[in-house]
Amino acid sequence: MDTNIFSLPVLLSLLFFSQPIHRSSASDTISIGQSLSGSQTMIAKEGNFELGFFTPGNSGNYYVGIWYKKLPGQTVVWVANRDNPVSNASGAELRLSDDGNLVVLNSFKVPVWSSNSTISTSNASLSSTTLQLLDTGNLVLQDGGGGTLWQSFDHPTHTFLPGMKLSLNTTTGKALLFTSWKSPDDPSAGNYTLGLDPNGSAQIFIWDRGVPRWRSGQWNGHRFIGTVMRSLYIYGFDYETDESQGIAYYTYTPHNASLVRFVMEWDGMERTFMQVQETRQWEIVWGQPINQCEVYGMCGVYGTCSDDGTTTTCSCLRGFEPRSSTEWSDGNWTSGCARKTPLLCQLNSSSNEDGFFTLPGAKLPDHSDWASTIGSESGCQEACSSNCSCRAYAYAASDIGCLLWGHDLIDIYQFEFPQDGYDLHVKLAASDLDAASDKTKSRVIVAVGCALGLLLAIIICFFLWWKYGSRAKVSWKKKRQQENTVLHPSGEVVSEFSSIYGEETQEGKASEPLFTFDCIATATGYFSDSNKLGEGGFGHVYKGTLPGGQEVAVKRLSRSSGQGLEEFKNEVILIAKLQHRNLVKLLGCCIQGEEKILIYEYLPNKSLDAIIFDTSKKELLDWKKRFNIIEGIARGLLYLHRDSRLRIVHRDLKASNILLDENMNPKISDFGMARIFGADENQGNTNRVVGTFGYMSPEYAMEGLFSVRSDVYSFGILVLEILTARRNSSFHRMENAVNIVGYAWQLWNEDRAVELIDPTIRSASMMSQALRCVHIALLCVQDRASDRPDIDAVIRMMGSGSGPLPMPRQPMFVAVGSTDVTETKIANKYESFSTYDVTITMVQGR
Ligand SMILES: *[C@@H]1O[C@H](CO)[C@@H](O)[C@H](O)[C@H]1NC(C)=O
Ligand SMILES: *[C@@H]1O[C@H](CO)[C@@H](O)[C@H](O)[C@H]1NC(C)=O
Ligand SMILES: *[C@@H]1O[C@H](CO)[C@@H](O)[C@H](O)[C@H]1NC(C)=O
Ligand SMILES: *[C@@H]1O[C@H](CO)[C@@H](O)[C@H](O)[C@H]1NC(C)=O
Ligand SMILES: *[C@@H]1O[C@H](CO)[C@@H](O)[C@H](O)[C@H]1NC(C)=O
Ligand SMILES: *[C@@H]1O[C@H](CO)[C@@H](O)[C@H](O)[C@H]1NC(C)=O
Ligand SMILES: *[C@@H]1O[C@H](CO)[C@@H](O)[C@H](O)[C@H]1NC(C)=O
Ligand SMILES: *[C@@H]1O[C@H](CO)[C@@H](O)[C@H](O)[C@H]1NC(C)=O
Ligand SMILES: *[C@@H]1O[C@H](CO)[C@@H](O)[C@H](O)[C@H]1NC(C)=O
Ligand SMILES: *[C@@H]1O[C@H](CO)[C@@H](O)[C@H](O)[C@H]1NC(C)=O
Repeated sequence: MDTNIFSLPVLLSLLFFSQPIHRSSASDTISIGQSLSGSQTMIAKEGNFELGFFTPGNSGNYYVGIWYKKLPGQTVVWVANRDNPVSNASGAELRLSDDGNLVVLNSFKVPVWSSNSTISTSNASLSSTTLQLLDTGNLVLQDGGGGTLWQSFDHPTHTFLPGMKLSLNTTTGKALLFTSWKSPDDPSAGNYTLGLDPNGSAQIFIWDRGVPRWRSGQWNGHRFIGTVMRSLYIYGFDYETDESQGIAYYTYTPHNASLVRFVMEWDGMERTFMQVQETRQWEIVWGQPINQCEVYGMCGVYGTCSDDGTTTTCSCLRGFEPRSSTEWSDGNWTSGCARKTPLLCQLNSSSNEDGFFTLPGAKLPDHSDWASTIGSESGCQEACSSNCSCRAYAYAASDIGCLLWGHDLIDIYQFEFPQDGYDLHVKLAASDLDAASDKTKSRVIVAVGCALGLLLAIIICFFLWWKYGSRAKVSWKKKRQQENTVLHPSGEVVSEFSSIYGEETQEGKASEPLFTFDCIATATGYFSDSNKLGEGGFGHVYKGTLPGGQEVAVKRLSRSSGQGLEEFKNEVILIAKLQHRNLVKLLGCCIQGEEKILIYEYLPNKSLDAIIFDTSKKELLDWKKRFNIIEGIARGLLYLHRDSRLRIVHRDLKASNILLDENMNPKISDFGMARIFGADENQGNTNRVVGTFGYMSPEYAMEGLFSVRSDVYSFGILVLEILTARRNSSFHRMENAVNIVGYAWQLWNEDRAVELIDPTIRSASMMSQALRCVHIALLCVQDRASDRPDIDAVIRMMGSGSGPLPMPRQPMFVAVGSTDVTETKIANKYESFSTYDVTITMVQGR
């Protein structure tokens, strides 16, 4: 309805006295004495937001709220009567009452909600009071003179919108709070609130019924230091204090046209949504807390937290021990840690012999004091060592200045990337420190070594870029116009990461190309069959020769990836940063339209399965080489599981994914494919099952549950295959065993494990080591994930002289009964499967 109804009094009265059945829309303003019926809405001038009655989910209750008008679905950003719903919309109304207040009336015309603004204006201006819905999503009650009497931005519910102020009244310590809904269908006040720290530290908190649940860390002028911020945040937030008004607040200014909203959600997560321009859908771009380590005070005082994606563990800072070791070992870390040795200054007040231990890259603890007058690191250290009640200090000249802690240190966390955090210097007694400093020294040596290595790598990269990159650059502009995205990690990573960490971001500047689609197509002879190296569930692999003569393996991904281009690119960049001698090196990628291509280093000896299962070639692998392969795979896995920053569960470890270099050293390939294919790595449960039957652990095959221990299972199978030189699938319906696990268990149990070992490599000298490997493999393939060792335990067990091994449990999943048991169980879960050697990617119905 385009006509301005307020210029048509007749129509107006008609509208108010009849009850239209269909929802009709009014303009963006109503004035005193007017109202909006249950089926009418008000729309902001540009049509961004709409105000009216709505029913969340299938609650059957009616609330007055504001939602996005132009987007599909109804995303509510504000609710008036959240705690007092109206049960029948017909007859209910939102009225600008004669006293100038906004009220919600139920069908019996009883007020259920009021804006409660105290109107102290004269009769003249009262009559010109209006209610207007702005295009920012703000609902404003204005007096005739343009003054604001009341606005919804000052009374938010659960959504923070650009233009709002996340504020704190510094005189009263009263923060503007965002309160979660009770459930997705119930807007009434839930357990979680978000707001500024009433103590004035400028930190944002999430509270669970008043108890801190998450904390953003202090504001350093650019970002919140207790959290990893993407450029979205770096550009958007600003902190201001207005002493004359006694108010401090954050504002957020979006840096481009994408809509953004921050929501304190019913489940205790703060989620940030951004609207994707093309699809007009909301995408979650950030959420906190993302893991247990980010939960406030998870490890108590003086505890620090680590999370490998599956388990959270707390440990005490150096020089501290658990307050209650029984609680601690039971996984209740809340009581935290206590000093092993009292500080000298606590015994002798005139002494300042205590020293400091440095925790690098830390999320700084809560309750800091800012020493605004201190302008040097030594001054900051001096201030802390001269005051016995000071527990720690942190100093950064450029932003946080000198921070001192006079309280017990709580909520500490070491970031994965040290540059995300700050060095925390914790005061320790000299005796605790001596033990620490030796290690510090060796760490310095390692650090210097790493730095030199890095420098060398940069020089090499630069040289390569200089040599090859400049040629490709010429065609870059042209390609770009064709909407190609081509990237090469060694050049790209630098710019991509600098944009994430905010040194400099220029959209579009992005890539230093090395691999264009044309280049790859030419290198592989247009993906000719003669260059094909193999194929798997993720796509075909070709051999290619780059213009410089370098040989590469080119993986042309099948098109079923669940990921968008941007995500794909990001994953590749992250994965290309993983470097280990037992992982195949990812050199880069190429994206054009539907084509997604990964470029790997080329390994002449191809994959393990091509050799070990080939009767003529398997002799190339004597026991020493095979043991080296087993060990190398374990080390590669250890890196993926524990030591890399991404903590990757491979999920598809198998002989054909182990490549061998010219010296028969193993390199794991296809790692990170689960990430690239868009399956969530941080969850233990997935709808998308990626894997190969025969290598899949029972819990993963049957329930879609996976963890690092599922990889250990696959590793166990792989070890048995290497020892026997026979495919798991070749045991199918033979020798009374369903598969290699059942067969191995049977022989091992009958003390005939020697018969398992490939006859071509049997010899007296290697037997004890090989039998130990059988034993370890049986430990790895136990049915229950919790019974299996993790990969670093496996590596320890493989070392000689590591003592007796635990007894494996009999595998029930495979060992007994007929073949049919396993098959039907699996077949029920999946629509179909045919072979044991093809990777299966399938969405599981649940
Ligand atoms: C809502 O109110 C209208 C009119 O007052 C009435 O006809 C209708 O039955 C009511 N609906 C419910 C579900 O109570
Ligand atoms: C308005 O005041 C009434 C009575 O004091 C109170 O019950 C109600 O919660 C207030 N409404 C709001 C939105 O603050
Ligand atoms: C406003 O008008 C009412 C009657 O309409 C009158 O009783 C009241 O005194 C007036 N108030 C002011 C401030 O003029
Ligand atoms: C802060 O609270 C005081 C006391 O309630 C009040 O007088 C003052 O106006 C408030 N300041 C702001 C900016 O709301
Ligand atoms: C304010 O700080 C004190 C200690 O300085 C602390 O005990 C209290 O919990 C803090 N309040 C909040 C709401 O964080
Ligand atoms: C806005 O920026 C974000 C992140 O920087 C980006 O994902 C989004 O596509 C941009 N939107 C527009 C309309 O440019
Ligand atoms: C809110 O707290 C209550 C207990 O106080 C609990 O039963 C409920 O599950 C909590 N709700 C959420 C969403 O966590
Ligand atoms: C953990 O220990 C604290 C006492 O230090 C106790 O109050 C709390 O209930 C314990 N939590 C659990 C989950 O056992
Ligand atoms: C305390 O420390 C000071 C300075 O190190 C020293 O001179 C003094 O003897 C100490 N006092 C005691 C009781 O140890
Ligand atoms: C020592 O530190 C505490 C806590 O930071 C502070 O309250 C106190 O004023 C300091 N004492 C001196 C003498 O600076």
